[in-house]
Amino acid sequence: MARRFHPVHVLALALGTTLGGLACDRSGGGDDDVSSRCGTGPSADERAQNQAIFDGLRARCEGCHIMGARGYFASIEAFESLIAYNPDLVVPGKPDDSEFVRLLEGGGAGPFPQMPPAGPTYAELASSGEASLSMAEIRTWVTELGDHAADPRPSASAPRIARLGAAEVQRALYQQLGLSDDDFFIPASNYDIPHKSTGQQDEKYPMSSLDAVPAPFESLPADRFASLGGGSAMYQRKYDPSISPSFAGSLAQIAQRWCAMALDKADNTALLPGGNTSMVGSTDPAAVKAILRGWFLHFHAVEAADDDVDHVFDALFVPLETETDARAAYVGTCSYFIRHPDWVFH
Ligand code: HEC
Repeated sequence: MARRFHPVHVLALALGTTLGGLACDRSGGGDDDVSSRCGTGPSADERAQNQAIFDGLRARCEGCHIMGARGYFASIEAFESLIAYNPDLVVPGKPDDSEFVRLLEGGGAGPFPQMPPAGPTYAELASSGEASLSMAEIRTWVTELGDHAADPRPSASAPRIARLGAAEVQRALYQQLGLSDDDFFIPASNYDIPHKSTGQQDEKYPMSSLDAVPAPFESLPADRFASLGGGSAMYQRKYDPSISPSFAGSLAQIAQRWCAMALDKADNTALLPGGNTSMVGSTDPAAVKAILRGWFLHFHAVEAADDDVDHVFDALFVPLETETDARAAYVGTCSYFIRHPDWVFH
């Protein structure tokens, strides 16, 4: 794969569209479906066919190929770019010339004659019913596969940042808001095993991983953790790194509720240092703006420009205060900083 970072490709990146046109010409077809041949992905039909092969093979392969340079089964996109549209492995229309098919049938030409590498070949597994997808189906797929070579250059537009995971959300909020498990849970015991309990109170929006020690006694804190995409090793729940509606909804609720708790918590200087209280409102703009400036640093790790501070003050803090009171304005502004992309993707 070192070839992907060959200087020519890096240069191509810099030149952008000019070489992009050339790179896509290999397909040789009409101009009707250029986008699908130019690295932006296959058509919906092609995707469905690839998905069927991916799903059919997966159980036999993903154990060894879910991450790393040979993470073919990490996702359908990985399968497509590393196998389906990799001309070293699959020659569209020609199953017999495709190393991928040869590997499955035990006739691999490289260092590994077969995949899986030991025991019966995939073809044998399929004919004895131990794999669901037949070799005939795989060969048909290769025969019908469009000439759709993946763009070998790295994609400059691919997203390279990920959002905070559920555990990181919790850890960051505990630190930044000056909260801890003690604000949400009381010690409990279940079958003589130490647990933590909410005392059946969910209105503080407690959150906990199922794998935490002590473990949560009630299920709602664990559900909330899961709704932020948190997984559990002990319960075999896979974590979900997407920005799902449940992630956004739960984060908004948690941010709102926890900011209020942090502001109301006695002797908690996490949000209001220097003897400030949530009573100080826009009658003292300098004091409020100093706090907001501090929150830019606190939540987003940026030195805010005066304009940024003024904007949050004018567009958010003051309207919220006018609507209710200064405390509500602090709660809303604090949760704004947490729901902000600069926090979510930190
Ligand atoms: C027990 C682990 C294991 C399983 C199961 C497994 N592989 Fe592999 N696979 C490997 C190893 C190890 C390599 C070689 C890695 C290397 O060279 O760095 C490899 C290499 C490959 C290659 C690259 C071969 C080449 O010549 O470039 C392909 C393609 C592949 N596997 C596909 C599959 C498919 C498809 C399945 C399921 C049918 C599968 N593998 C199942 C371990 C496994």
